[in-house]
Amino acid sequence: MTLLSSSVSPADEQFRLNRDSYEALIADLHRRRELAFAGGPPKAREKHVARGKILPRDRVEVLLDPGSPFLELATLAGEGLYEGVPPGASIITGIGLVHGRACMIIANDATVKGGTYYGMTCRKHVRAQQVAWRHRLPCITLVDSGGAFLPDMAHIFPDAGQFGSIFDNQVRMSAAGIPQIAVVMGACTAGGAYIPALCDEVVIVKEQGYMYLGGPELTFAATGETVDAESLGGARMHSSVSGVTDHLAEDDRHALAITREIVRDIGEAPRPRWTRQPSLPPRFDPREIHGIVSRDARIPTDTREILARFVDDSRFQEFKPAYGDTLLTGFARLHGHEVGILANQGVLFPDSALKAAHFIDLCCQRDIPLVFMADVTGFMVGRSAEQAGIAKAGAKMITAMASANVPKYTILIGASYGAGYLAMCGRPFNPTAMFAWPNARAAIMGPEQAATVMALVRRQILKAEGADWTAEQEEAFKAPVRKIYEDFQPATNFSSNLWVDGILDPVETRDALGLLLDLASRTPAEPTTFGVFRF
Ligand code: COA
Repeated sequence: MTLLSSSVSPADEQFRLNRDSYEALIADLHRRRELAFAGGPPKAREKHVARGKILPRDRVEVLLDPGSPFLELATLAGEGLYEGVPPGASIITGIGLVHGRACMIIANDATVKGGTYYGMTCRKHVRAQQVAWRHRLPCITLVDSGGAFLPDMAHIFPDAGQFGSIFDNQVRMSAAGIPQIAVVMGACTAGGAYIPALCDEVVIVKEQGYMYLGGPELTFAATGETVDAESLGGARMHSSVSGVTDHLAEDDRHALAITREIVRDIGEAPRPRWTRQPSLPPRFDPREIHGIVSRDARIPTDTREILARFVDDSRFQEFKPAYGDTLLTGFARLHGHEVGILANQGVLFPDSALKAAHFIDLCCQRDIPLVFMADVTGFMVGRSAEQAGIAKAGAKMITAMASANVPKYTILIGASYGAGYLAMCGRPFNPTAMFAWPNARAAIMGPEQAATVMALVRRQILKAEGADWTAEQEEAFKAPVRKIYEDFQPATNFSSNLWVDGILDPVETRDALGLLLDLASRTPAEPTTFGVFRF
């Protein structure tokens, strides 16, 4: 394999200015994460602890093996979407080890609006289930939720991908032999009660965990029956009378200890389907990526410099280096796992798109996972590109990428626009996981281009009506369009809306992919059948 070289000098003035700017983005990312980590307001947290409960993030820590990694997903989902709700949408999701077995942990945060489900909470829970299903990970749900956040009904109740899909996924994962375990750690009402009821095995905490379709007040209002919470849905009642729960725990710690024992007994962990070589760090410091990405988004980054700081031992076996050179394709290792990398190095031309299709086919033949590193303004436009069949070549790339059944990972490392974003395995193509770097941005097109296109359309309409535009009027028209695109494109908007599984510091990305590749290696290979290629 070829050893990548570097011409970057950390002493360079531009490098230092870029790094300062990037580190401000990283500091902002940590500030946002801290808000998510804190959970609900101090009063709600104090109330939670005063009830003898462990705070949700501490519950996750107690559940996991000491020193286990925890790959948190969608930490910042819902950020800024709901008043008084911190980033995270009142739920924590992520992958960690229990008795050495990788599990998907889904934990309600009862300190945020009673752990109730907003539309985004449903989507985040469902996304965690999709990741679990794809990797056949046992799901452990720490349930402490009042069910639906009632005012957000339209985003919770009627559609696929909302609350009902949580049940559907639970049932079908269970049918597929993927263990579903719940721990009832608070008052779980309505939907919050069905989640544990639909699990394979349920633990409940004495005098703290309750499960009922309607609480005592609702029961009184509906039927006139006066009943206390304990006999309506208490832990003792469910464990000895109704049989809704299977294990009675004294407190949170005891419940989490029982859960660990359940996981210990779920059978053999699946074995890897490919051989992993020893992991080697890149020869160049990954932190230098902070100084390589230009602080000016219009200046493209030399992706080879990024790869030199990203892949094992900085070794990259490039495929077709002299052909279609606006897309780098080649083989490398990440924490010892072989991957096929597609990384943009400019606009996509017909030859780069054809190269992508060829390379994806190779990786599918060899069962090698694909990593898309997206930094692309789009496909080339203009007569020459059209006559060279850019639409046909782009279609081939999209057909190959969409058909590929090997694990696929997408990292938005720069600006990804239009069909370029899609062809580099954007979210609509269901990559196995997708992350954005803090500097990433994505949209149909850039803000200036969008404003210009809209102004062109408007000018033609005015011309047809015999009217005209002053430069000031045109600018007044363009400014709000530009603003919509500027607000849309940052990585933070993508993470808030769950269009990515999270924002990662470039330095964290290798470890996240290494963990995901290890999980993917333990899933059965799926053969690829390509759609019809347009020749
Ligand atoms: N929809 C909307 N908001 C809800 C809610 C729901 N289902 N359940 C609770 N909340 C809100 C409360 O209004 C309160 O808001 P605030 O912080 O702005 O004051 C916050 O969540 C915390 O509720 P609170 O009752 O103070 O907390 P708690 O820890 O003592 O109790 C619950 C939490 C969930 C057990 C309790 O609020 C409850 O039983 N809620 C109703 C559950 C229900 O009937 N759900 C039916 C869903 S179909």
